Amino acid sequence: MKKIGIMTTGGDCSGLNSVINRVVLGAYNRGWRTFGIIDGTDGLCHMPANAIELTPESLPIENARLAGSFLHNGNSGVMNFETAVKMGRIATFNKNLKKSLAGMGLDALILIGGNGSFSLAYKNNDIYNNLSLVCIPKTIDFDIPLTDRTIGFDTAVNELVKYCDQVLLTARSHHRWFVVQTMGRECGRLALNAGVAVGADAIIVPEIKFNIHDLVEHIKCATRDYGIIMVSEGITIRGHSGRPADMISRALSAAGINNRAAFPDYIQRAGDTTAADRITAAKMVTCALDAIENGETNVMTALRGGECMTVPLAEFYAAGDVSPDPNIPDLCTSNAYIEPDDPLLDVAAAMNIYIGEMK
Ligand code: F6P
Repeated sequence: MKKIGIMTTGGDCSGLNSVINRVVLGAYNRGWRTFGIIDGTDGLCHMPANAIELTPESLPIENARLAGSFLHNGNSGVMNFETAVKMGRIATFNKNLKKSLAGMGLDALILIGGNGSFSLAYKNNDIYNNLSLVCIPKTIDFDIPLTDRTIGFDTAVNELVKYCDQVLLTARSHHRWFVVQTMGRECGRLALNAGVAVGADAIIVPEIKFNIHDLVEHIKCATRDYGIIMVSEGITIRGHSGRPADMISRALSAAGINNRAAFPDYIQRAGDTTAADRITAAKMVTCALDAIENGETNVMTALRGGECMTVPLAEFYAAGDVSPDPNIPDLCTSNAYIEPDDPLLDVAAAMNIYIGEMK
C-alpha cells in the first residue's frame, strides 16, 4: 500500500478542491492512503508536518466544486521559501522540508502549483529525492509552458464572462464603455480568452504592442456607444502610471468617451469549478496516479490535444521564458505567454476586436 501526500501552493483558484477530491478517490481505488498537507510548504516545514489523512468519507460532498483550497495554500506572513531566502535561512528551510517528508513516510507527493512552485521544486529538487514528485499545474494566468490547460483557467474565464455580461447591461443603459482589468500577471491569455468570449471591442495584453490613439479611434468608430475593453493587468503605457484600466480610462475620457474602469479582482479566482476544469482535474489526477504507480518522479502532468501525459520538470523549465520571479528573491521562473501564432489572435482580428499591432 502506497502513502501519498498532497499539497496546494501559490495563489488559489477554482478547481483545487476538484483535484484533491479526485486524488483521494483515485488513490483509495488503488488501495493507497492520502495525506493532505495543510498550508503548502508552510505546513510542511513544521516538525512534524501539519497534515491530515483524507478518506472518501471525510471529504465534504461540495468539496469538488467550491473554489479555494480545502487544504489552504499558505500564508505569505509566515515561514516559506520567500521569507527563508530573505532571512538567509533557505538551507535550514530546505532541510526541514526534507526531514518532514521523511517523517511522514511518503512514497509520493502530488504538488498542485503554478510556475513559481514548479520552478522552486525543480531548483531545490534535493528535498524530494526520496519520493516520487508529481506536479499538477493550476493557475488562472495559464502561464505554464507545455500544457494546453491549467486547472482554474476555464473557471476564471467563465467568471469574467459572467461579470462582463452583467456590466454590459449597465454599459448599454448609460451609453458607456467599461474598461475591465483582468488578472494574469505578464501573460495575456486570460484577457484574450475572456475578451473573445464576451465579444469585447478591444483586448489589450502585455505580449502585443498597442497604440492608445489607435484604440481611441477604434472605439470612436464602433457601431455601438457602449461595450467592453478588456485589459490585462500586466500592460504598461509609456508616460502613464497607475492601474492599467485607470490609465486607459483616463485616455478615453480625455477623448470624450464616456467610460468607467472596472476591477473584477478576486472573483477570477472564485466561482464554482466549471465542468471543463473538473474534467481536466480528473484527467490530470489519473495521469498523476499512473505516474506514481510507474515510479516516475520530477514530472508535471500536461494536457495536449485532449490527452494527458507527464513532462519532466527539466523540460518544463527549459521550455518557458526563464526570468527573475518578482515575488521570490533569487528565483528564476519559467513562464509561458500568448504565442504569436495563437489562432485566437486571428479570430479576434476577424471579429474586428482591436488587439494592437499584431505580427
Ligand atoms: O497568479 C495568480 C494571480 O491571481 C495573478 O493573476 C495576480 O496578479 C496575483 O495572483 C495576485 O496575487 P495575490 O493573491 O498575492 O494578490
